[in-house]
Amino acid sequence: MHQILAEFLDKWVWPTAPGAPGAEFRLRITEEKCIKGWEMAVAATLTEIEKGLASGNEDWKRRVAMGGYAAEGVQMSIKQMSAQLVSVDIAEQERYIDLQRMRARQVWDECKHSKLHVEVLMEKGWIKSERDLLDNPAAHLQPLPAYFGLSMMFPHIHPLARAAQHYFVEAIACLGIATYLSRVDDPMMRHEHLSQRDEELMHFMEGKYTIDTYCGRPEDQKPVEDTLEFLLHRMRVNL
Ligand SMILES: [Fe+2]
Repeated sequence: MHQILAEFLDKWVWPTAPGAPGAEFRLRITEEKCIKGWEMAVAATLTEIEKGLASGNEDWKRRVAMGGYAAEGVQMSIKQMSAQLVSVDIAEQERYIDLQRMRARQVWDECKHSKLHVEVLMEKGWIKSERDLLDNPAAHLQPLPAYFGLSMMFPHIHPLARAAQHYFVEAIACLGIATYLSRVDDPMMRHEHLSQRDEELMHFMEGKYTIDTYCGRPEDQKPVEDTLEFLLHRMRVNL
């Protein structure tokens, strides 16, 4: 296992709050399903970085920033998080108030993500301002259509279904950031990732907290495991 994953597991995955009703379920799906996906993700990110570093030019940095702009913040995350706020009915809000507060906080934090990529593109001289991106279709391509579709369906599945996405996919974001920070010296590219480090960790911790706190009963575990199965399927298709 790569050191970056081992450290992430020790620091953030294995610790559980005493008496958390869903912790046993979380540790089972982690060992049976998540770790394999996380290992694949770290390996894929490392390969991408090594390829970029070996290319001898900066075009890969432009592609990372463009891809991030298209897939984060305004283009995806704010819509996605806003839809998830709707996943809790008014009658259930008291039960899931922690969830609602965490999601509202995340919507607020999403606003900065695509701007980080804009700053890289501007500093490198590839664009003059964000206005230039409006004329470029590549800056507006959402590359994960089915994943996005599922995200929009969370309100109709279960208030806890999103926890699988938070736990599994946002761990990949955290691992990706740790991998970039371990291999890349470019200050703008480091900033692009460092500025999101705690924010992605907050997504992951929302997933962890949600599963540990609310997923003690089989009927609350099933939607989380079903969503995780879908996400693993998407990952097998994409990698
Ligand atoms: Fe986020």
